[in-house]
Amino acid sequence: MKMGKVVMVVAVMVLFNMFYCSAWSGGNKHKSGRNSILPGEAISSWPSLLNPAGSSIVFPLYGNVYPVGFYNVTLNIGQPARPYFLDVDTGSDLTWLQCDAPCTHCSETPHPLHRPSNDFVPCRDPLCASLQPTEDYNCEHPDQCDYEINYADQYSTYGVLLNDVYLLNSSNGVQLKVRMALGCGYDQVFSPSSYHPLDGLLGLGRGKASLISQLNSQGLVRNVIGHCLSSQGGGYIFFGNAYDSARVTWTPISSVDSKHYSAGPAELVFGGRKTGVGSLTAVFDTGSSYTYFNSHAYQALLSWLNKELSGKPLKVAPDDQTLSLCWHGKRPFTSLREVRKYFKPVALSFTNGGRVKAQFEIPPEAYLIISNLGNVCLGILNGFEVGLEELNLVGDISMQDKVMVFENEKQLIGWGPADCSRVPKSGDVSI
Ligand SMILES: *[C@@H]1O[C@H](CO)[C@@H](O)[C@H](O)[C@H]1NC(C)=O
Ligand SMILES: *[C@@H]1O[C@H](CO)[C@@H](O)[C@H](O)[C@H]1NC(C)=O
Repeated sequence: MKMGKVVMVVAVMVLFNMFYCSAWSGGNKHKSGRNSILPGEAISSWPSLLNPAGSSIVFPLYGNVYPVGFYNVTLNIGQPARPYFLDVDTGSDLTWLQCDAPCTHCSETPHPLHRPSNDFVPCRDPLCASLQPTEDYNCEHPDQCDYEINYADQYSTYGVLLNDVYLLNSSNGVQLKVRMALGCGYDQVFSPSSYHPLDGLLGLGRGKASLISQLNSQGLVRNVIGHCLSSQGGGYIFFGNAYDSARVTWTPISSVDSKHYSAGPAELVFGGRKTGVGSLTAVFDTGSSYTYFNSHAYQALLSWLNKELSGKPLKVAPDDQTLSLCWHGKRPFTSLREVRKYFKPVALSFTNGGRVKAQFEIPPEAYLIISNLGNVCLGILNGFEVGLEELNLVGDISMQDKVMVFENEKQLIGWGPADCSRVPKSGDVSI
């Protein structure tokens, strides 16, 4: 299997979530000399003038699909607050930092390891329960919440759940200090393909522990997140109402899968034509750089591309290992603009119960990259080869230059065209 350097960057999904309970070695060490957060202390510092119906919090993103392979966001956390670079993941719930608990296995981090608060989330807390594999989990240490998370790309983290203070700027200029749960990850296992030097992960999934669920349960914003990933690099994520609903196409969040932002059934459309490849479930996930189709859909895509490219000046480039399938031209390409004309859009056509269809179009720019060897490579991969089985996963590459909205209150996923390099301010957002 040939994969890009960073294929599933982080957390496609929690494949299994084993119970792990250990005495947290060093857990008492930090009790001295550290600011403690008294319950209520941070809470009292957030203003009550916020109206959750209208407020939003917007963060700029840095990164790109290729060659970086991910988008990161800066969050200020702790007392005093320090900046951290976090990988943005809509495919998992927990936000955590590599943490000096002390750390057993941490990777290189852009900032010094986070020093945990001593504000433990108890084992029986609903937030802790939401991170455990079963409802009747063991609580060997009732005062602390141990967790283990295994991501689809062989990455795993062990940690302890604590409350800490997040500093957030809301769109109406108010700076919020919010006390919310944060994972202190003190033992991480990295796979070579998932390795990149970040301080932690921002979990934006649908579960209770997700940052958006926590913000919402404190009455700060509506339970809505969204993102806009620019093909020029960068973009933004938002919590709350920071999008123009007039330009958004909606499809229901699938009730079959309670963990992920998934939708379906959908049918594949190639170059505007139905393919008969249907009943597809698609998971939207910023934790994956590329898009994955199940075997059947992937084979259909390959045979369509083979037909489309016959007679065109593109030949398979087996030596280019950037992704599974690359093509070379007569001369090296420098931009997608030069090759776009040889390709047609792919689309997922969602049937919204009845006749109404919501089409998620994936133009060539959202499924191709130009490798550093000047070849054009297919950014849709075979999910079967990485163990995704029947799941189809829409990764960063295919969500570029769209505003994506995950409406947890109405159980809808939406998308619309957008210039993602324009980070919205409160003034130019219509609600
Ligand atoms: C994350 O974003 C920051 C900008 O805030 C950037 O300087 C940094 O290089 C990024 N981190 C990585 C690992 O790319
Ligand atoms: C929040 O706002 C303050 C003051 O306007 C600014 O200095 C800081 O960089 C902002 N933080 C983030 C994370 O945007």
